[in-house]
Amino acid sequence: MMRKRLLAGNWKMNKTSAEARRFAEELGRMSSAFSATADYTLCVPFTSLYVLKVMLPVHVCLGAQNVHPHASGPFTGEISMSMLMEFGVHYVILGHSERRAMFAETDTFIAEKVGSVLASGGTPILCVGESAAQKAAMQTESVVLAQLEAGFACTSIEDARRVVVAYEPVWAIGSGSTPSPTDAEHVISTIREKIASMYGTTLSEHIRILYGGSVNSNNLASFVAKPNIDGALVGGASLDAVSFASLARALVEGGSV
Ligand code: PGA
Repeated sequence: MMRKRLLAGNWKMNKTSAEARRFAEELGRMSSAFSATADYTLCVPFTSLYVLKVMLPVHVCLGAQNVHPHASGPFTGEISMSMLMEFGVHYVILGHSERRAMFAETDTFIAEKVGSVLASGGTPILCVGESAAQKAAMQTESVVLAQLEAGFACTSIEDARRVVVAYEPVWAIGSGSTPSPTDAEHVISTIREKIASMYGTTLSEHIRILYGGSVNSNNLASFVAKPNIDGALVGGASLDAVSFASLARALVEGGSV
């Protein structure tokens, strides 16, 4: 099964819109790094959406880092999918460990958000991953599979194929350490088996599963060379235009496509 690889940058709470404009100008000069054979997205702060909508290279799609499940209403400080889509947002990162840990997002709330993004025609990037303590307690699989199952709770079989899953061990995020590609492949193939048990093999073979946590342009190729790893969710290394373009090249050149 040929799955189209995906590189997703996660800017987190970084860059003003003026800084985003400079990034896009620089990236525009390297637009040959992006090809139609893969998908690319930058998930940026809401305040940078306006400038990036017009300035990103044609193959780089806009993404967001959060959304509220309701279409509108009394939810002070929140944003809805229709508001994001006005700016061309297609991908939305959901269930990131920072939102689970710092903003107390529950599996139930995350599942509602996944459902809302799908209902709007967007693509959720559902993040799952174990903490250092859970890894030490040998709970990686049980934690990751429980988050996965819960994250799909509001998703119909018709929509499930559009979900992107990102396996991000919490201990690897921003730390400079990663699991070995073999270890990441093991967890990701377990995730694919779980999806097969929920929705069948045809669908599980179709779903893209990314690795995330301290990915850079030197190590990306070794992850995507693994048969079940379809790309990466990248924080720090997506903030610099030269680095993002190098990641884009490594995504396609690394391993067989
Ligand atoms: P990192 O972040 O690439 O800086 O480790 C990844 C993420 O949090 O999505």
